[in-house]
Amino acid sequence: MSQETTERVFSDPLGDWKRSCLCGHPRVGEVDHELVLMGWAQRRRDHGGLIFVDLRDRTGIIQVVFNPGVCQSAHERAKEIRSEDVLAVRGLLTKRTPENINSNVSTGEVELMARELKLLSASRVPPFSIEDDTEANENTRLKYRYLDMRRPRSIHNLVLRYRMLKNIRDYLDRLNFIEVETPMLTKSTPEGARDYLVPSRIYPGKFYALPQSPQLFKQILMIGGIDRYFQIVRCFRDEDLRADRQPEFTQLDMEMSFVQPEDVFHVVEGMMADLFKELKGVDLKRPFPRLSWEEAISRYGTDKPDIRSGLELVDFSGIFRGSKVQVFVSALDRGGIVKGLCVPGAASLSRRELDELTPFVAGYGAKGLAWAKIEESGWQSPIAKFMSASQRDEVQKISSAKVGDIILFLADEAKIVNEALGSLRLLMAQRLGLIPQEGFSFVWVVDFPLLEYSSEEKRYVAIHHPFTAPSDEDLPLLKEEPLRVRSKAYDLVLNGVEVGGGSIRIHQASLQRQLLTLLGIDREEADAKFGFFLEALSFGAPPHGGIAFGVDRLAMILSGAQSIRDVIAFPKSQRAVCLLTDAPTLVDPKQLKELGIKTGFGD
Ligand code: AMO
Ligand code: AMP
Repeated sequence: MSQETTERVFSDPLGDWKRSCLCGHPRVGEVDHELVLMGWAQRRRDHGGLIFVDLRDRTGIIQVVFNPGVCQSAHERAKEIRSEDVLAVRGLLTKRTPENINSNVSTGEVELMARELKLLSASRVPPFSIEDDTEANENTRLKYRYLDMRRPRSIHNLVLRYRMLKNIRDYLDRLNFIEVETPMLTKSTPEGARDYLVPSRIYPGKFYALPQSPQLFKQILMIGGIDRYFQIVRCFRDEDLRADRQPEFTQLDMEMSFVQPEDVFHVVEGMMADLFKELKGVDLKRPFPRLSWEEAISRYGTDKPDIRSGLELVDFSGIFRGSKVQVFVSALDRGGIVKGLCVPGAASLSRRELDELTPFVAGYGAKGLAWAKIEESGWQSPIAKFMSASQRDEVQKISSAKVGDIILFLADEAKIVNEALGSLRLLMAQRLGLIPQEGFSFVWVVDFPLLEYSSEEKRYVAIHHPFTAPSDEDLPLLKEEPLRVRSKAYDLVLNGVEVGGGSIRIHQASLQRQLLTLLGIDREEADAKFGFFLEALSFGAPPHGGIAFGVDRLAMILSGAQSIRDVIAFPKSQRAVCLLTDAPTLVDPKQLKELGIKTGFGD
């Protein structure tokens, strides 16, 4: 940013001036009233002896006119005004002549004729213009977040987030939930990420962990008889960041006693209906559709399906097993699958456009992408000649492919095929405009598997978390075939984003111990890590369950923002840095010494 040589200083005192209203509020009804308005100078224009200043605050902009004929001294001082200076103006609200009406702003029919001006605070030249379509890149905006925040869209996002949380609090209050705060300095709660640790000065060598979620505390609240709990709570996870992840983020965390999944769904659907009605004027259709995890993977290739486009994956394994398409047959022989996606009207894709899809799927580990264009004259496809006419007909039939469509095929191990095709499905839907821009499509994904095998850690790991209950019917499989056990976990997915996840919990200490053992946590470690919790379970724990929502993700979708950073007042960058304060930073060696810590960096 340009360095100014002389610092401008304004020191007019506020004195006894009181704001009459905010800048975006005056209307024709108040014409001929004297008003005192305060705010930031959006810009100054000098025009035929008159000076125009757009005065801005979080409610909008009003045009202020400095006319030497009305007040010579105010006009003189107005010449000093620069963008983002802070002003107070006393003046007469007047009606604009019809040709000067600006229908783009809420105050466009009026303007303030200045009678007196106070220059309250000067601004250096801002590094970017304070407008929605700012030219600044995100890092600059995050460094000067207080300037970025003055943009109408940022204000809108923060107000919307506030309204969302207020609406949710009011709704849950009506349903007898109470908000309870749980500790930030605590013990590790496993949610699959690394912990942020806080050293204890009083107990050198010992650490608190910041909560990845309040999971164990909310379960203990149920054991304590709180019955219906919620909390709007900060959670901390040291994980690799993506567009919709932050190292600290906010959850709407809930827990209820004596419930089944349907009871949780009912409360949540009511909450979402209320919220979307209030904020978006949308009537959500209830109940939300439910999709088993297995079905979600099979039809959409992902456990967070965006079901708006109507495109679905089709399993062709059976057909290709008997074919001469060598790459497919060998993938099947290795225990893989062959799946495909029919994209309506996409036979017009050029060879180059098709070739560009191969690196895209390769990003998910796929070794190639085969295709078939369905044309009037038949199939145009590199694999057509290795298939019989009846095999081609069968493929076309089960994928409902018509002339003008294209079918994309992938053969590999199931995980790769589903991930790659699931993403390709979204890409094609976006490219072809098959996703309606308006509209909110919720779906519950249920019946998740309880466990998966981690080849990295060489043990079973919980898909949701270790406190999730196995489904009653699969319980007998727990000892012999743990990977076949489904759980009572559920996710709420909105437009392809996982906005919430939860489960019915294990409420018997013995089953909880059994599960921890299955996860490779022996009795000693279980007692060291979760002894307090296992003990609590042994004093009459009610059946209970709950869910937590990503508040940032919900606010992002409600506001139409592209990233959760846009709906967080002071987010971290994608590299987990607070660009405003520069955190994380090295600390004073004295502080480290007190904590008994040696970092090997600068100490
Ligand atoms: P889970 O880990 O699924 O469940 O988290 C719940 C929701 O929190 C949001 N979320 C995030 N948002 C932004 N940045 C992150 N790094 C991040 N991580 C998660 C997601 C997610 O759906 N204790 C359980 C809940 C329960 O079982 O009740 C839990 O934390 O929207
Ligand atoms: P190749 O025999 O490797 O030249 O591949 C023939 C066609 O099949 C090419 O269009 C490849 O992109 C495609 N292909 C190769 N491997 C796979 C696979 N695993 N799944 C889908 N298509 C593939």
